[in-house]
Amino acid sequence: MSPKTSAPYQRVLIASANPLFGQGLEKMIQRQWKNPQLEIRRVASNEAVLSEMQSWSPDLIILDYDDKAISRVEFLQEFVTGEQPMQVMLVSLKSSGAVVVYDRRTMTPAQAEDWLNLPKFSQTTSEHFPLQRRSSMKHFVIVGVLIAAFTGLIYFLLSNIPLLPIAASVQAQPIDRLFNLHFFMISLLFSLIVVFLGYSLVVFRQKAGDDEEDGVYIKGNNPLEIIWTIIPLGIVIYFAYLGSVSLAETRRADPQALEIKVVAGQWFWRFEYPDYGIVSNAMVMPVNKQALLKLTSLDVIHSFWVPEFRVKQDTLPGENLVRELRVTPTELGEFKVRCAEMCGTSHAYMESPVKVVTQAEFDQWVQDQLAALGTDPVARGEVWARNNGCLSCHSVDGSPNVGPTWKGLYGLTHELTDGSVVTVDDAYLLTAIINPNAQVPKGFVPGVMPQIYKDTIPEQQILEIIEYIKSLK
Ligand code: CUA
Repeated sequence: MSPKTSAPYQRVLIASANPLFGQGLEKMIQRQWKNPQLEIRRVASNEAVLSEMQSWSPDLIILDYDDKAISRVEFLQEFVTGEQPMQVMLVSLKSSGAVVVYDRRTMTPAQAEDWLNLPKFSQTTSEHFPLQRRSSMKHFVIVGVLIAAFTGLIYFLLSNIPLLPIAASVQAQPIDRLFNLHFFMISLLFSLIVVFLGYSLVVFRQKAGDDEEDGVYIKGNNPLEIIWTIIPLGIVIYFAYLGSVSLAETRRADPQALEIKVVAGQWFWRFEYPDYGIVSNAMVMPVNKQALLKLTSLDVIHSFWVPEFRVKQDTLPGENLVRELRVTPTELGEFKVRCAEMCGTSHAYMESPVKVVTQAEFDQWVQDQLAALGTDPVARGEVWARNNGCLSCHSVDGSPNVGPTWKGLYGLTHELTDGSVVTVDDAYLLTAIINPNAQVPKGFVPGVMPQIYKDTIPEQQILEIIEYIKSLK
C-alpha cells in the first residue's frame, strides 16, 4: 500500500487482549496510512468491543482471531444485525497471519451485480492454485529440456578435450570407464545448478514498476527432502560399487606374469629382472604380457607412475614394505615413468624410459644385456655403478658434484674431515662404499651418501665397481 493513497478508514478499532498484537498493529497502520484524521482505539474485552461498536461506529474492526477473551460468535452476531457500513478483519497469528474479511455495506442492485462479477470472485483460492501449478510445470519442463541439452553439450566437450594421455594398458580400461562416468556426472550436476540459476535470473527478474512483495515463505517439504537424500545416496553407493569392481579388475593376477623388481632411490629408477639376472636403467616390457612389479625404495618414499598405464603405486623404504603393481601393456612404444611423490631436490627429474616391445624384441634385449655384461671387471663395474645410482653423485670426468669425482681418484692423498690423511687405495674405497661416514674427505658433508650399499650391492659387484674407479685415470 502506497503512503500517498489516503486511507478509506477514519475510525479503526483493534480488539485483542494481547497488548503486543494491538500495539504492533496500531503502529503499522499509522505508519502506512499517514492519515491525520485517522483515529485508532484499542479494546481488550468482549463487552468493550460490543459497546464501542454501538457507540463509536468504527468503519474497520480488526479482531484477534486467536484471542479466547473475545467471543467471535457473539461479536459476529452483533455485526450481522447492524446496518451502517463496516468492515471486519479477523487476523490469526497462529496460522501465519491468515485473515478473514467481513464486509457490511448496502448496495443498489446494479452495484451488487457489478460486485458479483468482480474477477476476485471468479478466482477463489481453491481455483487459483492449479493455475499456478500448471504455469510452474511449464517452467520445470523448459528447465528440464535445457538441463538435458547442457549436459549433452558439456559431456561432449569434456569427452573430446584430450584430458588424458592414451590408455596403454589393460588396467587403464576400468579406470577410464570410471573417468567417463564421472565426466557425465560432472556435466549433469553443473547443468542442474547453472541452468536453474540462469533461468531464474532471466525469467523471474523483477520488472520495472513491479513492487510486489517477497515470495511465499516455504518451510520444509518432506517428499522433496526424502527424494533429494535417497537419489544422491543411491548414486554414491553405485559409484562405490563400481570403484571396488574396477579396483579388483586392475589387480587381477596372471600366474604367467613377468616379474620386475623396481627399485627407487634419490634420484633414479632401477629395474631388476630376477628371472634373467639383468639390471637395467630402462624398464623394458613385452607387449600384452602382464608384468608383476615389486616396488621398493632405498631411501624415502617415491611413487611409480606411468600416466599411460593409469595405475600408480608408492614405493616405500624397508625390506618388508614391498608393494605390488600389475601392468599389462597393450601399446608398443616408449613411455616414461615419473616419480609422483615429492622426494627431494631432483624429484622433478626422476624419470626413466619405459619401453614396450614385442616378445621377440624383448628376448633379443635380454640376450644383448647378458652379452654386454661380458667378463671384463671394469665394464661390469661401470654397469653396477650406473644401475645403483652412483653416477648421480660422482662424476667420471672430473666435474664437481655432490660426492668426489672418480676421475683420477685412485692413488690420491685425501685430507679427511678429522684432519688425518689417507691414500685412496682398494681398502679405502671399500670402506667408503660400505661405511661411507667413517672417512669423509675434507670439503664433503658426512651423512649425505647412503649407508645401504653394504646390503643392496653384492660384494663381487662392489669389487668390480672399485675396478671401474681404478680405471678412471
Ligand atoms: Cu622420487 Cu619424487
